[in-house]
Amino acid sequence: MNSSDLAVVILAAGKGTRMKSSLHKVLHPLANRPMLLHLMDRLEALNPVKKIVVVGAGKDQVQATIGDQAEIVVQEPQLGTGHAVQMAREALGDFQGNVLILYGDVPMLTEDTLMAMVTARTRADGKAPAVVVLGFRPQDTKAYGRLVLNESGELEAIIEHKDATTEQRQITLCNSGIMAVDGRMLFDLLEQISNTNASGEYYLTDIVAIARQRGQSCAVVEAPEEEVMGINSRKELAEAEAIFQARMRDHFMAEGVTLLDPATVYFSYDTKIGQDVVIGPNVFFGPGVVVEDNVTIHSFSHLEGAVVREGASVGPFARLRPKADVGRKAKIGNFVEVKKSVIEEGAKVSHLTYIGDAHVGAGANIGAGTITCNYDGFNKFRTEIGKGAFIGSNTSLVAPVVIGEGAIIGAGSVVTRNVSGDALAVTRAEQKELGGWAARFRSKQQKHKK
Ligand code: UD1
Ligand code: MG
Repeated sequence: MNSSDLAVVILAAGKGTRMKSSLHKVLHPLANRPMLLHLMDRLEALNPVKKIVVVGAGKDQVQATIGDQAEIVVQEPQLGTGHAVQMAREALGDFQGNVLILYGDVPMLTEDTLMAMVTARTRADGKAPAVVVLGFRPQDTKAYGRLVLNESGELEAIIEHKDATTEQRQITLCNSGIMAVDGRMLFDLLEQISNTNASGEYYLTDIVAIARQRGQSCAVVEAPEEEVMGINSRKELAEAEAIFQARMRDHFMAEGVTLLDPATVYFSYDTKIGQDVVIGPNVFFGPGVVVEDNVTIHSFSHLEGAVVREGASVGPFARLRPKADVGRKAKIGNFVEVKKSVIEEGAKVSHLTYIGDAHVGAGANIGAGTITCNYDGFNKFRTEIGKGAFIGSNTSLVAPVVIGEGAIIGAGSVVTRNVSGDALAVTRAEQKELGGWAARFRSKQQKHKK
């Protein structure tokens, strides 16, 4: 095993009581992805040889979410962060590389920061520190552990707030909890920690002073506060979400997307948007949306699991549900819902329509109020609408049904049988006219009016 190999231990055994949730804290989503999976995503670039998650209660939930992406070990009871890392000893085996210790509820870290920590830990000049701690300077130092540096700026110790003197509490450089440790020493150091402190816990943070006593050096890498914020409550979850959304908006605008009112557009972790796309106010992107170049998404549209192809236009007030595929230059207008349907190039579904389990051919025009009746209460059925077909307003297409290419359906029809290409199909009652009837009716009624 190479000493530059990396293993990651993610601590997530805390009870998370402040979330008041039956869902494990680290599974609460940010931008529609569980925070633990955000952390996993960030790790990909570092290519760790092992990933271990330490959990207390809620093991099955965590397991179900991460699958085989990481090994899970249980810490029961929870005797502190140092004790939690000790739980990973067996899983790490004789691992000799770098051990990166993360918190499952600190998911906003960037790849750059994690890389900087690993790089600091593996300096090639023979002065590599045994422990690298990720520090930050919060606006409010709250109850964070404080980083005590010596005159040369090296880390001497971490003092927990509860155990700190008034003088030590003046220190503004705080411990994020994230560490990179030399795997050859980690468990020797952990064996030395005790729980004789204000909390009666085994503090991981104590390994810094112990390493110093052994003549090892320790170092600090600093990160902005917003990267190391921990999520302990719904309020902090919302704050983290706001930071995440702001990052994504900045990213998309930098990539050539116009957001008319950025603060009102919500993205998911995997939203993909091309260049010269214009997005109006109050647009929501659920998971799995791909928007190609030159698309306009008008205000108040809600998209999830959908593809919007080059030059298409969506909304305002449109809803694209999973497997909606809006073709090049197609138009989805206001109060239109599309689910599991392909709308081919240039087709128009402009107003008040439901298209589900359907295929709409290129250039077809779907009139206002058209409904594909795809569900009989038991099963779903498909509707095929041919190229260039014209569906009159307020038509019900009762699936399974095929409308041939170029066919015209008269407005107000309820179509239950297939329609041939280029045919006209009308199913409504024929129009009658009774000349003068309305005038006669009015004068008769007037006479009897009480
Ligand atoms: C810890 C640090 C503190 C730092 C702060 C940053 C220690 C002793 N203190 O304090 O210096 O400023 O984080 O937020 O490490 N956990 C377990 N098992 C346990 C205890 C905790 O897995 O027995 C996990 C929690 O799920 C959480 C993380 O470790 O992900 C931190 O635990 P927490 O109790 O929040 O530590 P703090 O007291 O805040
Ligand atoms: Mg904490």
